[in-house]
Amino acid sequence: MTVCEFRPGLEGIPAAESAISHVDGHKGILEYRGIKIEELAEKSNFLETTYLLIWGKLPTKPELDAFEHEIRYHRRIKYRIVDMMKCFPESGHPMDALQASAAALGLFYSRRDLHNPAYIRAAVVRLMAKIPTMVAAFQLMRNGNEPVRPRDDLGYSGNFLYMLNEREPDPLSARIMDICLILHAEHTMNASTFSARVTASTLTDPYAVIASAVGTLGGPLHGGANEEVIEMLEEIGSVENVRPYLENCLQRKSKIMGFGHRVYKVKDPRATILQGLAEQLFDKFGMDKYYEIAVELERAVEEKLGHKGIYPNVDFYSGLLYRKMGIPTDLFTPIFAIARVAGWLAHWKEQLEENRIYRPTQVYTGYHESHYIPMDQRY
Ligand code: CMC
Repeated sequence: MTVCEFRPGLEGIPAAESAISHVDGHKGILEYRGIKIEELAEKSNFLETTYLLIWGKLPTKPELDAFEHEIRYHRRIKYRIVDMMKCFPESGHPMDALQASAAALGLFYSRRDLHNPAYIRAAVVRLMAKIPTMVAAFQLMRNGNEPVRPRDDLGYSGNFLYMLNEREPDPLSARIMDICLILHAEHTMNASTFSARVTASTLTDPYAVIASAVGTLGGPLHGGANEEVIEMLEEIGSVENVRPYLENCLQRKSKIMGFGHRVYKVKDPRATILQGLAEQLFDKFGMDKYYEIAVELERAVEEKLGHKGIYPNVDFYSGLLYRKMGIPTDLFTPIFAIARVAGWLAHWKEQLEENRIYRPTQVYTGYHESHYIPMDQRY
């Protein structure tokens, strides 16, 4: 076996063979099963894209109809899950509520039959169907309201916005939310997907796989960055303050949230699409001053850091869109999770198809031949 040098963050080290998605970070290309993200954002919808990611092909009309029907049927969550969520502190972060609720599904659907395609499909449907309901339910319950029952006549994203805001969304917002979910659905071997695959490789249940990935996504260097972008734009406060703010960050060597990527060395293609969607939304519902600040910040960061390959990533413009739809900042990352469940499940299924438990090695840097020191001799 070849012994590799240690690479912090496993940079450049393949952790799996995968046919699900591909990124060319120098050309700014992202493909799901070979189809460019721009084409899917224009022509597909989130459930069709989910089917593509998980089963490796675009569904026929009957296949898609059947999948959508199953998802609609399974959107409701058990009252005991609702009761459990009611006990969560309202000050808790919705990502923690989601992680706990996703893990709790394993208590209710505990049969594990990983070799059975029907079991895999049922788990996919349950997770895809119930996670948006759980996110919306926590949002309502932490504000002292009862959760809203899902509506069978609404599509996936329209129903999610309906459950969240207790009113039917306008068609543009529902379509934009659906495109946002497509854009966030999958992204090769990022930290949360790696987490999902490691957990999957132990042959545990799919609810534990998704719960571990949700926990990983929450951090500010990964999915949590979209919340911090909005906080940063609010702190900047005006277009005039963009350059002084950036100078200050550069002097302090602090990261500018929503910029930079381990793989992309040009602007993330998803950021370009999201920016276009933001403009459509602002045209219809009025400009947001934070969008103007964001555009100026992108210009200034490109001037100062473009030579290092630091450009906007997917988290830079998504928060502005969600904010305009009236979604609270701390729900941005749970929405990222709703989308990414599709990718995590595709990796779960792929991992099971040729599983070997993850068991990497380490470079030991500690002591050898030390001795136990009695308590009264320690200092
Ligand atoms: N602002 C300023 N400088 C940056 C930034 C940034 N956002 N990102 C990277 N750099 C610089 C960094 O200071 C370093 O410079 P030098 O070589 O002079 O020390 C160089 O670029 C390489 O940075 P790194 O941190 O070693 O790169 P990484 O591949 O380990 O990290 C990253 C990638 C995404 C964690 C990082 O760019 C970052 O922290 N960005 C801000 C947080 C963020 O937006 N995260 C969302 C990531 S995309 C979606 C997702 O994964 O959920």
